[in-house]
Amino acid sequence: MQATIEQEQTERYARCIAESKRVRWSIEEDVIRRRTFDTKQKFLPDGLSKVNEFAFLSGNEQRYLSQVQGRTYANMFGLVERYINAKVLELSSDYWFGDQTALEALVRFSDEELKHQELFRRIEKLVAETMPTGYRFVPQPNDVADFVLGKSTWAVLALTLHIELFSQMHYRASIEPDENLSPLFKDVFLYHWKEESQHAILDELEWMRCDQNITSKGRDNAVDEFIELVAGVDGVLQAQALDDARYFSETCGRRLSPDERAKLENGILRSYRWQYIISGAQHPHFIKVLTSMITDAQAERIQSALAPLM
Ligand SMILES: [Fe+2]
Ligand SMILES: [Fe+2]
Repeated sequence: MQATIEQEQTERYARCIAESKRVRWSIEEDVIRRRTFDTKQKFLPDGLSKVNEFAFLSGNEQRYLSQVQGRTYANMFGLVERYINAKVLELSSDYWFGDQTALEALVRFSDEELKHQELFRRIEKLVAETMPTGYRFVPQPNDVADFVLGKSTWAVLALTLHIELFSQMHYRASIEPDENLSPLFKDVFLYHWKEESQHAILDELEWMRCDQNITSKGRDNAVDEFIELVAGVDGVLQAQALDDARYFSETCGRRLSPDERAKLENGILRSYRWQYIISGAQHPHFIKVLTSMITDAQAERIQSALAPLM
């Protein structure tokens, strides 16, 4: 029985390797293809940027806001991939002298996240060439990694599965169907999505493995740590939303009234909370996996922590 379960697990890792090999792409030849960004086009789709909720902005200003948010969107993935890669490398050490298929799947995962970080650095440079100066991406990858990796593996994998599931859902539900987006921006997230699909499967396998080896007290602490991680993400979002509002108002070509500036700051924070916290927390598969591991009381703790961010 145990041998069959282990064999099934190995087969799931093997399928991730096969898929990873099949979809493998390169930054320059497949994604960028000598293209640049065109600021006449939107970057982030309305379903994520929620720019149509900014009624005080003109159509052109809403498009510009989608570009500012899209720039931050690419930087956010580059940011979290630093800690994700470090955690994946750490987990891979459990397989050094064991299941070599699982080891290979995690090594490929790590390799892909290193490539994605390079892709997002490349995208930031390309975007900077076409947008006004003064943009800042506030959080630092190593500071965030230091904070996240200070929590237990259970909590870190909960956050990671949440991120990798929402990144897929964003692509399928909002980026792919929007015909008015920059084709380059769209391709960045098409290629990213292709490799993220395997990552989410691996996150889940690793999280379940971790869950099987944790005590109920350990899991209860980890639920609190997951809540602390979400609060940490929200801190990052608050700082970046404020700075993106500053950049937008300095570069949008007109003077915003204090009331408009306040609406802009609140609106961007609402959009970011939707993008990076709420959309993932509402992901049906994330809820299914999470609730299969925790008690009703723990689920309620998580829900009441999320409620003020909705
Ligand atoms: Fe990635
Ligand atoms: Fe990933």
